[in-house]
Amino acid sequence: QIAGPCALVVFGVTGDLSRKKLMPAVYDLANRGLLPPSFALVGFARREWSDAEFADTVKDAVREHTRTGFDEAQWERLAQGIRFVEGSFDDDEAFDRLKKTLTELDIEHGTDGNHAFYLAIPPNAFPTVLAQLKRTGMAVSGRNQTWQRVVIEKPFGHDLHSARELNALVNSVFPEESVFRIDHYLGKETVQNILALRFANQIFEPLWNSHYIDHVQITMAEDIGLGGRAGYYDGIGAARDVIQNHLMQLLALVAMEEPISFSPRELQVEKIKVLSSIRNIEPLAQHSARGQYGAGWQGSEHVDGLVDEGFPADSTTETFAAIAVEVDTRRWAGVPFYLRTGKRLGRRVTEIALVFKRAPHLPFDESMTAELGQNAMVIRIQPDEGVNLRFGSKVPGTSMEVRDVNMDFSYGEAFTVSSPEAYERLLLDVMLGEPSLFPVNEEVELSWSVLDPVLAHWAGADEAGDTPEHYAAGTWGPECADEMLALTGRVWRRP
Ligand code: BG6
Repeated sequence: QIAGPCALVVFGVTGDLSRKKLMPAVYDLANRGLLPPSFALVGFARREWSDAEFADTVKDAVREHTRTGFDEAQWERLAQGIRFVEGSFDDDEAFDRLKKTLTELDIEHGTDGNHAFYLAIPPNAFPTVLAQLKRTGMAVSGRNQTWQRVVIEKPFGHDLHSARELNALVNSVFPEESVFRIDHYLGKETVQNILALRFANQIFEPLWNSHYIDHVQITMAEDIGLGGRAGYYDGIGAARDVIQNHLMQLLALVAMEEPISFSPRELQVEKIKVLSSIRNIEPLAQHSARGQYGAGWQGSEHVDGLVDEGFPADSTTETFAAIAVEVDTRRWAGVPFYLRTGKRLGRRVTEIALVFKRAPHLPFDESMTAELGQNAMVIRIQPDEGVNLRFGSKVPGTSMEVRDVNMDFSYGEAFTVSSPEAYERLLLDVMLGEPSLFPVNEEVELSWSVLDPVLAHWAGADEAGDTPEHYAAGTWGPECADEMLALTGRVWRRP
């Protein structure tokens, strides 16, 4: 589906997100023929740029990060609708100029009064920008069949309390149906495929419950360190940065019941139901783990620890976090879900592993099954997108020796078309007004309710001098994370 006429206004247009993701995504959408000729892109920032100078910086970003290849003619068409408005967020005149620019674009470029405002800015700037949009009347929705939408990037608050405040603030300016919260994991093809895998097939869903599944591991591991992001990260940490949003959304998709249809409302209903039934496994001291990376080896490269990268030495912000939760429903009773994420781990991988119970009876000699593990289904979100099934098979030979083997589906091999980048899909959906891939405020608040007790537990531990454990870069995290699973005789996968 092609977007209709509209203008996308980006606040925070000089930041990393804009340069690496948003600008290339806009261009790639245009290049795939999904934007109308009347599409306009308006940058707002405190730079003395002309429209042409802003367009040049967008062009550089596009050239560097496009996924569809740079085409000069395509670029020229897009550049026709690029504008820049200089100003700071508390500058009334700048917002008046923005309004004037949009009005001109509506008439001259054909954007028709449809405007999306993308807040790629730190959350402490949200109130000022939202107040400006309200003051100037730019946030008023539904005038003469036009639409006005706001797009916000995480973090959606710092805890449940601040998330509620933020939601109330946003909803005081834009009605909930005009608010699009970006969790870019939901824009990934492999994440959307979780529901196709579960509900378009007959072979998986009968096994998708506590009768057959022993536990679930959801991992989002990164090999990169904090690099230049120390300022953003200190005080936030791995749990708020990744578990509260990306991993809780993955958990919701894996654990939810079948929606009665794929309409946004029905999907939301099921996600909210499952998020409401998640509870932490107690005691938290044993069923949560956190750590900070020190120097170490990643492959053959020696990398610095957190503090040598400029992170405050007395900070207790975690770069690794793991939690254990249960989903209190008939389907999942007693099945632990382990969620972990970390920086500077063994390799970059995001996966969901459903680890099955052992067969109730093995009619083989014990020595023949010494190499047989638990069956597992692993959904590889990235990289090497695909699905893997691990099961036992007879080793060729005269004895009945059984060993684990793998059956593998790889996107790269099965499909020749490349997947669009997550931000392309999400930006397009904002313009189409398609809300399925955007968490609503209730989902955000429910996720915080799960995380808040863990964060409070860690804050208490800090006060008692029990600070995050160190782990060497290139490993799979602190020992306390292994101990957390060892309690029940389980082990983390080493993807
Ligand atoms: C972001 C986090 O949401 O996701 C980052 O803030 C993280 O810390 C990033 O690096 C990872 O995204 P992806 O798509 O590369 O897995």
